[in-house]
Amino acid sequence: MTPEDSQMLSRVTRRREIAPGLVTLRFLNPKVAHTTVAGQFVNVLPKVGFLDPMLRRPFSVYNIDGDEAEIIIQAHGRGTNILTETREGDMLDVLGPLGNPWNTASGDFKTAVLLIGGVGVASMQLLTRTLVSSDVPVQTFYGARSKTLFALDGLTNLHLSTDDGSEGFHGSNIALLRSQLEEGSIASPKLFVCGPTGMMRAAKALAAEFKIPCELSLETEMACGIGICQGCPVVTDDETFNTTGKRFRLVCMEGPSFAAERIVI
Ligand SMILES: Cc1cc2nc3c(=O)[nH]c(=O)nc-3n(C[C@H](O)[C@H](O)[C@H](O)COP(=O)(O)OP(=O)(O)OC[C@H]3O[C@@H](n4cnc5c(N)ncnc54)[C@H](O)[C@@H]3O)c2cc1C
Ligand code: FES
Repeated sequence: MTPEDSQMLSRVTRRREIAPGLVTLRFLNPKVAHTTVAGQFVNVLPKVGFLDPMLRRPFSVYNIDGDEAEIIIQAHGRGTNILTETREGDMLDVLGPLGNPWNTASGDFKTAVLLIGGVGVASMQLLTRTLVSSDVPVQTFYGARSKTLFALDGLTNLHLSTDDGSEGFHGSNIALLRSQLEEGSIASPKLFVCGPTGMMRAAKALAAEFKIPCELSLETEMACGIGICQGCPVVTDDETFNTTGKRFRLVCMEGPSFAAERIVI
């Protein structure tokens, strides 16, 4: 694929502010809307027509509806601060869909456990839709700093937790999930995880402890998003290194999600 194949100027049709610094942008882009599979992302220029900032920023496809797609953006640094100020009617320069989908096909689980931290929710609405349409039971453990930061659209069977105790379990979603795994109340689970690095590390350890499959969607820094700049490596495990001679994988091309045991995080 060349950038020309999948780059499109897309008009913003709806902007919604969920909380200060957390917005969704819906935009007209039939290609992204009709071809994205849950887990893929788009790479978006912070400002159309400006050379600074020059590099695109990656965002999971949060929702698709007809010819429109939606992303959810947490203001973090310069690029996302500019993007959260985008208005309805503005144009976005969108490259995508990029990356690989979540692996929902393997038969090694009965219950999909979605483990979400903060804006890691971005790829979970489409994942929920995919799983539910395949009749896979879903349990969602969603943690946020405070209740105002939840984006609950399209999620199901929620177990909420907050750092400040303003909603649901007071503590981490890892602790909440651990208690349910200890009770054995989730039949043959697989973890689908996206959130801050610390949470993903803890999820990987939890999955190893309970010997359950676990897939992590990484939010590594990126530039090109299409395998050219080599700017998004993830260290792979020694076994992979020994058998293939490769120690790194590119998150944009081989991810963003990886089986937890295959990568060092
Ligand atoms: C697959 C994927 C999906 C994601 N999905 C979402 C999502 O749905 N919602 C969300 O809010 N966040 C998402 N993120 C995280 C989001 O992309 C980052 O928060 C965002 O890129 C930060 O950009 P920034 O300009 O605000 O931050 P900054 O820290 O200012 O900039 C980060 C980016 O700028 C570039 N950059 C900045 N400085 C330099 C430099 N000196 N040299 C080279 N490059 C530089 C790099 O491309 C870097 O990735 C996702 C990340 C990935 C990888
Ligand atoms: S972001 Fe350029 S190779 Fe992955």
